[in-house]
This record gives sequence, structure tokens and C-alpha cells, in this order.
Amino acid sequence: MSQETRGRLTTRTMAMPADTNPSGDIFGGWVLSQMDIAAGICASQRAQQRVVTVSLEGMSFIRPVKVGDILGVYTEVIEVGKTSMRIHVEAWVRRGQIGLREKVTEAVFKFVALDAEGYPTPVPAKSSLPDYAMEEFTV
Ligand SMILES: CC(C)(COP(=O)(O)OP(=O)(O)OC[C@H]1O[C@@H](n2cnc3c(N)ncnc32)[C@H](O)[C@@H]1OP(=O)(O)O)[C@@H](O)C(=O)NCCC(=O)NCCS
Repeated sequence: MSQETRGRLTTRTMAMPADTNPSGDIFGGWVLSQMDIAAGICASQRAQQRVVTVSLEGMSFIRPVKVGDILGVYTEVIEVGKTSMRIHVEAWVRRGQIGLREKVTEAVFKFVALDAEGYPTPVPAKSSLPDYAMEEFTV
């Protein structure tokens, strides 16, 4: 499998025994929550305001995650609507501390930017973002 990651490394964490399912592998919901956290960081950085997850498309669990794996989540803004953003998210593991990187999951999350009252509010144009928020946004 290709070692090519897509997007920017947004979070890294270690899978712990408390996160296992009855078969001893890591619970899919834990991996999903790590992806949601990373996507939320990416979306709030692009929107420069509070965001919420509104939908999840095409979640694929490609390979299992094991206790002790280092999970890295990569994110990329792939589309900006009026108040929403679609974020491509991939999770990769490194096994046995120094093992090869392996892609374990992939999905597209959609987030909506909210104003102070909790109502959808426009995502600013990329050109109006401050320098510190720019990073590598293409949209
Ligand atoms: C997100 C939320 C505020 C949107 O409210 P809403 O009244 O549907 O708002 P709008 O109709 O103005 O839609 C806002 C944007 O969300 C998109 N959207 C709304 N519902 C959607 C859905 N089910 N799937 C995909 N996109 C959706 C709209 O297309 C729109 O995008 P655009 O502005 O870029 O065109 C509301 O659905 C909500 O609060 N959901 C719960 C979010 C949450 O708690 N997430 C955490 C889960 S535990």
C-alpha cells in the first residue's frame, strides 16, 4: 500500500488498552472520535470560529488499530460552502514504535461554522484569513 498521506498531520495519540473492543482490537468509535477531533481543529482553523460536525460521508475502516499503535490523523479542507466545510480525514498508524506507516481509516466530515448564538454563519473567504491561520488551505 502507498505510504502517501493526504493533508496535514493534525493530531497524534497512542491507542491504549482502555479503548479496546471485546476482541482486543481498538474500538471503532474511539478511532472515529479521534478523526472528529482532528477534523474539528482543521475546520475551526479555516473558519476562525466555533464549528460543529453536521455529517460524515464514506467512513472506511481499512485496517485494525492495535493497543500501542501511534495514531496520526491527517486533515485537508476540500470544499467550502456558505457556512459549511468538507474536511477529508485519514488516520494512519505506526506500529511497534518504529514500524511502517499504515492507513487505517478514511472519511469526509462536514462541519458548520456557528456564531456566538449558535446559528450557522458564513465561512470567511480564504483571502481574508489572518496569516497565522493560513497554513496550507487550498480552498
Ligand atoms: C449544524 C446545524 C446548526 C445546522 O442547522 P440548519 O438549520 O440545518 O442550518 P442550515 O439549513 O442553514 O444549513 C447550514 C449548512 O449546513 C449544511 N447542512 C445542514 N444539514 C446538513 C446535513 N444533514 N448534511 C449535510 N449538510 C447539512 C447546509 O447545506 C448548509 O451548508 P452551506 O451553508 O454551506 O450551504 C444543526 O443541524 C445542528 O445544530 N446540528 C447538530 C450539530 C451537533 O451537535 N454536532 C455534534 C454531534 S454530537
